[in-house]
Amino acid sequence: MTTSIEKQSGKAGARLAVLTSGGDAPGMNAALRAVVRVGAARGFEVFGVQHGFSGLIAGELRPLGPRDVGGIIERGGTLLGSARCAALKTEAGQLEALAQLQRRGIEHLVVIGGNGSQTGAWALARRGLAVAGVASTIDNDLPGSDITIGCTTAVDVALESVDRLRTTASSQGRVFLVEVMGRDCGYLALQVGIASGAELIVTPEASLSAEAVAAGIREAYGRGKSHAIIVVAEGASLDAEALAKRLAELQQLQPQTPLGFELRVCRLGHVQRGGAPGAVDRLLGTRLGAAAVDCLAEGVGGMLLGQIGGRLARTPLAEVAGSTKAPDPALLELARTLAL
Ligand code: F6P
Repeated sequence: MTTSIEKQSGKAGARLAVLTSGGDAPGMNAALRAVVRVGAARGFEVFGVQHGFSGLIAGELRPLGPRDVGGIIERGGTLLGSARCAALKTEAGQLEALAQLQRRGIEHLVVIGGNGSQTGAWALARRGLAVAGVASTIDNDLPGSDITIGCTTAVDVALESVDRLRTTASSQGRVFLVEVMGRDCGYLALQVGIASGAELIVTPEASLSAEAVAAGIREAYGRGKSHAIIVVAEGASLDAEALAKRLAELQQLQPQTPLGFELRVCRLGHVQRGGAPGAVDRLLGTRLGAAAVDCLAEGVGGMLLGQIGGRLARTPLAEVAGSTKAPDPALLELARTLAL
């Protein structure tokens, strides 16, 4: 029986491939599930590509039906596997990716990923492929969406760790430099810092010198705090290790002005990308995955699907490719005020 949805889209028999690319993010599976199931409902034959664009170039595609994506909405990572792909930056790589699709009669592609992945998506869209991007990265540095899939869960995971670090920090009278991911963007660090009540937050956009951090630690000690938490973005001019080293040097140069606390470093690293997606990322992934299929079913390619002001948004991949989004200046300002 033909459903009203199939009649609407008229895509019966058309083929669509989906891949996850770049850094995996909790909620990618929810997006994948939505692409497969909404794709089937709109009449597409759906194919999953293993290991991102590298798998596409190598021809690692298999049919995916609604039953293949059962039981994955609650799982972190990505069922399809993901990878970063240097070959897609070359003409030869792009032509081979298109050839692999053409050989199978696939005319549509959904790319679930962040910055580099959407730049790759645009490269294929420019060559005539109907591509839809789904905004997914824990870094939340992608233009075209207020929030990207995986970011909210990554913030929650980091927060749980910082809460635990606070317990031991206060028991031992220590200051912890906690490094969070985010590549060149300070959004994750800001969110984690504000939500954990960190004494200081160091980001690429609001950098602090080691001298300013030392002064902040001394002030916290002087105000009678039992410990201090400093959240450092990995992309800050001094990462947590480098900052700790510089603080130790400053201590040697100025032994008469002690920090007050012993110093420890904790780099959260890839822990932030792991684990089950929270409700926000499951819902966002589902919504954006479904919207990507709808966009292609309408015959509109070359768009990134995101959420702006709580609504679904389509932004041309041409505008997204190669650009990044900085954190809201108001958030930066708030973080500065709270650091007092
Ligand atoms: O883009 C997501 C991200 O987790 C960044 O925060 C981090 O800088 C990078 O990926 C790490 O990449 P990889 O997993 O390749 O080491």
